[in-house]
Amino acid sequence: MSELIAEAKAPSNIALIKYMGKTESSGNRPANASLSLTLTALESFVEIRRAETWGWRPLDRDGFFAPELSEAGRNRFVAHAERVARALGKEGLRGEIRSANNFPPDCGLASSASSFAALTLAVAKACGVDVDPGAERAKLSRLSQQGSGSSCRSLYSPWAIWRDEGAQAVEGLPSLAELEHVVFVVSGDRKAVSSSEAHRRVVSSELFHGRVERAARRLDELLQALRSASSDVSAWNQAAEIVWAESWDMHALFETARPSFGYFVPGSILVLRELRQWEASRRPLVTMDAGPNVHAVFWRDADLELRLERLIQRLASIDPTIKIIRGLKR
Ligand code: DP6
Repeated sequence: MSELIAEAKAPSNIALIKYMGKTESSGNRPANASLSLTLTALESFVEIRRAETWGWRPLDRDGFFAPELSEAGRNRFVAHAERVARALGKEGLRGEIRSANNFPPDCGLASSASSFAALTLAVAKACGVDVDPGAERAKLSRLSQQGSGSSCRSLYSPWAIWRDEGAQAVEGLPSLAELEHVVFVVSGDRKAVSSSEAHRRVVSSELFHGRVERAARRLDELLQALRSASSDVSAWNQAAEIVWAESWDMHALFETARPSFGYFVPGSILVLRELRQWEASRRPLVTMDAGPNVHAVFWRDADLELRLERLIQRLASIDPTIKIIRGLKR
């Protein structure tokens, strides 16, 4: 096997305030600021091995899953490696990229954020850059954004905010020890409309008028609510309302775009209804990305596991195909 030049890994993230719509597609400049929770347990791994030309193949490692990349997907990945090397002054660098995820490809979880973030870090290491947090992180995050917008948030943990000037970590929000993340996988089908296409189409919706202002207002309100959430149950529940409205706002943009499109399947509605009936003092933060699966961020109360177990059993009795994946490392 050819010589290993560099390797890196990066986690996925779930947006609670969504990046949806771009002011410029080149460089993926977002129409509005977004906020995400980093999913530390869902990671992509990238190796760069010595080669004469750039190329990609799946990384073969026990317990890992090969990403299913289309021809266009491979080209986009390779083009990103070239872009990062060029930006870091190593235009002559070439390598074979190998990548894999620790979550299955058929689970419908977006791997572009984690895989572009891991690729950016791996190429930077191959260029001799110290990728540890600090000044270089900001530069690498901005570079990662050019490959896939949401990947720029994956370089920060546990919370990342991405404003026009770039992504950064947010302090003072609930800690990972206080939270549990679950994604209810109701379909593993490939998206009919990619998120890049969704960004292009949403601006054609009548509802896009005012979207940027709504997202900005929600971001401020959500940050404020989350800052008090550890000691204030009602602030956490306020956050749950904001996250719910934001997710529906984005899906309403999809459904009213011209041409319209959407990601809901019956299982999505089933899970949303169950989560709405969650009977605990702290309600989950529920959101969906550009896909049919439902993400929920729970407060780790003493009885969370019991309640979760009950919910999982109830869902399984209605639809045994629903899979549960946890997004935070313990
Ligand atoms: C719905 O980052 O996948 O997940 O920049 O075109 O690669 P590109 O789009 P991408 O968009 C993610 C959209 C989203 C919301 C979010 O993660 O903020």
